[in-house]
Amino acid sequence: MITVAGVVKRFGSVGVLDGIDFAAEAGEVVAVLGPSGCGKSTLLRLLAGFERPDAGEILVGGRPVGAPGPDRAMVDQSSTLFPWLRLRDNVAWAPRAAGAADPLAEADRLLEATGLSDFADALPATLSGGMRQRGAIAQVLATGAPVLLLDEPFGALDAQTRLAMHVWLRDILARTRPTVVLVTHDIDEALLLGDRLVVLSRRPARVAARVAVELGRDRGRHTTTDPVFTGLKDRILDLLTPA
Ligand SMILES: Nc1ncnc2c1ncn2[C@@H]1O[C@H](COP(=O)(O)OP(=O)(O)OP(=O)(O)O)[C@@H](O)[C@H]1O
Ligand SMILES: [Mg+2]
Repeated sequence: MITVAGVVKRFGSVGVLDGIDFAAEAGEVVAVLGPSGCGKSTLLRLLAGFERPDAGEILVGGRPVGAPGPDRAMVDQSSTLFPWLRLRDNVAWAPRAAGAADPLAEADRLLEATGLSDFADALPATLSGGMRQRGAIAQVLATGAPVLLLDEPFGALDAQTRLAMHVWLRDILARTRPTVVLVTHDIDEALLLGDRLVVLSRRPARVAARVAVELGRDRGRHTTTDPVFTGLKDRILDLLTPA
């Protein structure tokens, strides 16, 4: 579904990405970890089509990415909900723009599936940070885009809320099966949500490691004490800690 091959990106004289290769199968979650400032957000912006690589190639669904498109939807730390619309209308926005027969019914179905029905009539400003991020993800799922690009979607939340969000997102992704590239600083988040990890080095970033997360499908709070989890976490901490 996604192929990133030999991608190089510079901003002026600053080399950011120095030959990045990875792939994601349809329905897979690839988590990208790396030191602060190494180019993780730049990589997502390239996948989204907001930036162009200086060299290399990015294919989504077999086609080269040249510009933003309806096949890719992005969520980042700052919620993208329209502040003047109720949550239901925020989620109905994409189905409405796409000419769906009953956008509100589609929104209600998605709010139900994401456990947000009780907040359908709330304005974003009256929701907690965690709720707003869940709403932003529901809004993006409503686009039906087969590829989700998530840039530290829970980065602004406290640790307990974040853990609840991981369990929530895992459940939603298992049901909707988009292909996901998840950029995060949070190793626990990467291990709870990722099928595979791509660990980047410091800037100019190269792929320092590719790790298969063999923790089964049923992951939650209990997983963080699994020896496989703690072993992988140790290994990734070593990779990310400056020598
Ligand atoms: N549009 C731009 N113009 C110039 N430099 C940029 C631009 N976008 C990013 N950079 C630079 O590229 C480097 C990588 O930035 P990027 O935001 O991709 O890192 P990151 O890994 O996402 O960092 P963080 O972990 O802090 O979110 C930084 O040095 C940044 O200053
Ligand atoms: Mg970033």
